Amino acid sequence: MSTVARPALQFDVSPGDPPRLTLVEGWWLREFAEVDSTNLVAAGLSAWDAVRADAQSAGRGRFQREWISDAGGLWLSAVVPVKSDSPGASALPLVVGLAVCDALRAAGVAELRLRWPNDVLVGDRKLAGLLIDRFKPELAVAGIGLNVSNEPEARHDHLKNQTARLADLVSPAPSLRDLTASILRQLRLEVDGLNAGNVSGLLSRLNQLWGRPRPVELDLDGEFRTGTFNGVDDGGRLILSGPAGGADFFEPWQVRHLREITN
Ligand code: BTN
Repeated sequence: MSTVARPALQFDVSPGDPPRLTLVEGWWLREFAEVDSTNLVAAGLSAWDAVRADAQSAGRGRFQREWISDAGGLWLSAVVPVKSDSPGASALPLVVGLAVCDALRAAGVAELRLRWPNDVLVGDRKLAGLLIDRFKPELAVAGIGLNVSNEPEARHDHLKNQTARLADLVSPAPSLRDLTASILRQLRLEVDGLNAGNVSGLLSRLNQLWGRPRPVELDLDGEFRTGTFNGVDDGGRLILSGPAGGADFFEPWQVRHLREITN
């Protein structure tokens, strides 16, 4: 059996060093060589704090899945203030996807789309995944996992042909530090807009990112519905069109999972 030599892991923060604390685009950013999950570290922090790690030993994905987090990817969590009683609170997970897309477009990625609620795709391959946790009532932790020069497909067979990496899309790929700053800048702008009540402006920009209407199956916590995904309405509700032209509207919390139906 032959073994393929891998390049040494590239750490931006030296293992063993204390976390680096810097002020970046209005956020207090803590950077670590490795943590279990940046979302879990961020759970104990305050609004406008952020955490980045070069690697995660127990990265968390949606639906309690493992998130492969080898060095070279961007593993970032940002603590965002949420006005629970504001109309925009339920739109927050969508708005984080918008901020990531804005930062990726600024980095030169042209062909991006979002899969509801906030997977960032290039074609049908996943470039970034987002996990929004609510550990405290007035705060949300927005966890962002973005493949840059890490090797998810080499680490897990089930990811074969499923992922995209920024390093394969733009040359040269921006540094993790520049990407972090760009995402945090966009996220601050979008969250300030949301908390100022500019929900419909944000949602109409978001609606340009879903790509063509696609056939989907919704898992409504055990009840399954099929139809065509047609973006979100002014209240952030998912629009599902039926074959006869009518539409049903679903609050984000009603939809456990959206699966795109491919033929
Ligand atoms: C998904 O399943 O698509 C969501 C993946 C979210 C991964 C990111 S990486 C940074 C943050 N820390 C975690 O443990 N998960 C999120």
